[in-house]
Amino acid sequence: MPKKTVNNLSSSNLQGKRVLVRADFNVPVDDHGNITDDTRIRAALPTIQNLTSKGAKVVLCSHFGRPKGVDDKLRLTPVAQRLSELLGQPVAKTNDCIGDEVAAAVSELKDGDVLLLENVRFYKEEEKNDPEFAQKLASVADLYVNDAFGTAHRAHASTEGVTKYLRPSVAGLLVEKELEYLQNAIEHPQRPLAAIVGGSKVSSKIGVIETLLDKVDKLLIGGGMIFTFYKARGLSVGKSLVEEDKLELAKTLEAKAKEKGVALLLPTDVVLADNFSADANTQIASIENIPDGWMGLDIGPDSIKVFQEALADCKSVIWNGPMGVFEFDKFAAGTEAIAHTLAELTPKGTTTIIGGGDSVAAVEKVGLASQMSHISTGGGASLELLEGKELPGIAALDEA
Ligand code: 3PG
Repeated sequence: MPKKTVNNLSSSNLQGKRVLVRADFNVPVDDHGNITDDTRIRAALPTIQNLTSKGAKVVLCSHFGRPKGVDDKLRLTPVAQRLSELLGQPVAKTNDCIGDEVAAAVSELKDGDVLLLENVRFYKEEEKNDPEFAQKLASVADLYVNDAFGTAHRAHASTEGVTKYLRPSVAGLLVEKELEYLQNAIEHPQRPLAAIVGGSKVSSKIGVIETLLDKVDKLLIGGGMIFTFYKARGLSVGKSLVEEDKLELAKTLEAKAKEKGVALLLPTDVVLADNFSADANTQIASIENIPDGWMGLDIGPDSIKVFQEALADCKSVIWNGPMGVFEFDKFAAGTEAIAHTLAELTPKGTTTIIGGGDSVAAVEKVGLASQMSHISTGGGASLELLEGKELPGIAALDEA
């Protein structure tokens, strides 16, 4: 169901209005609390600027990490500073997200000002979606905008609960863009449509693989989960990771692909290691010849070629999950080759979509982020969307 967005609100709806904006400022930081990747802050700018340019008073809120109560290391102060630099205007910040201090700070806002509230997860009521807490959050605003795509799969007070107290409740521009790419990619794709699914466990990707089998023309599987598929086929996998309780499921998924006419491609060779470490000894083996005592940590060079050929004629590609342990240089080639392949396909007219935390990190590591059609800011949220699940933070917004 299409949702109302900030584009449906004009200056006459917004001038002088206090707008509670839920963003996802859950950004990575180093040991000193410095932000190491500000992508999610940058991604929130279009909505904030859309609102301030129409004369709104913007009251931002977000979670940050998973604190148990107030935690000084998880205050949003560095985010306010970064946001202020990026917006080129001061961003005031409160030390709480509800209460008198917040009410006073909001009452001082002038049209076009931006205020950031403290981490909403300092209250356990946030994750419990406590109605009283949601009402307190909502009490300082006239209307609500949800632009926290990365948290849209959580039914929390600041993503879902507040919509009960604020009208209109609309989507921000980031949420709109994420939905447009991710939903279009599976509902109305340009074909052939391929999905590349990686990651270590079949169990965490079952939902998405099952849903994608109904949508895609080709399904390329990489990452640690391939060994569960091989073992299910009766192959030896050495000491590679296997989910013994998912062997039957792996067989069922292969059978389902066949029945639906989906080309399900598994790697033909793998990079093996004698132990799980960055400096392990390595060898390349075909999947029929994996020796005892070795574990597979990446897809091999022949598989890369096979995958590249399979992707060459695709008009849409969705990628979720790395091909190997790309954090270790010796096992990064498969993941990096996929990133390069997609970067080459984008200018040829293929829509390339990267959904999911680890594959985004991989694309960024090789500096190819700007060469993809869309990089999702939501790991769990994009996976749930691709699985066809309803995202509560979006379902609660006003219909267009
Ligand atoms: C994320 O980083 O995936 C989102 O911000 C959601 O965070 P959460 O998994 O702690 O709810």
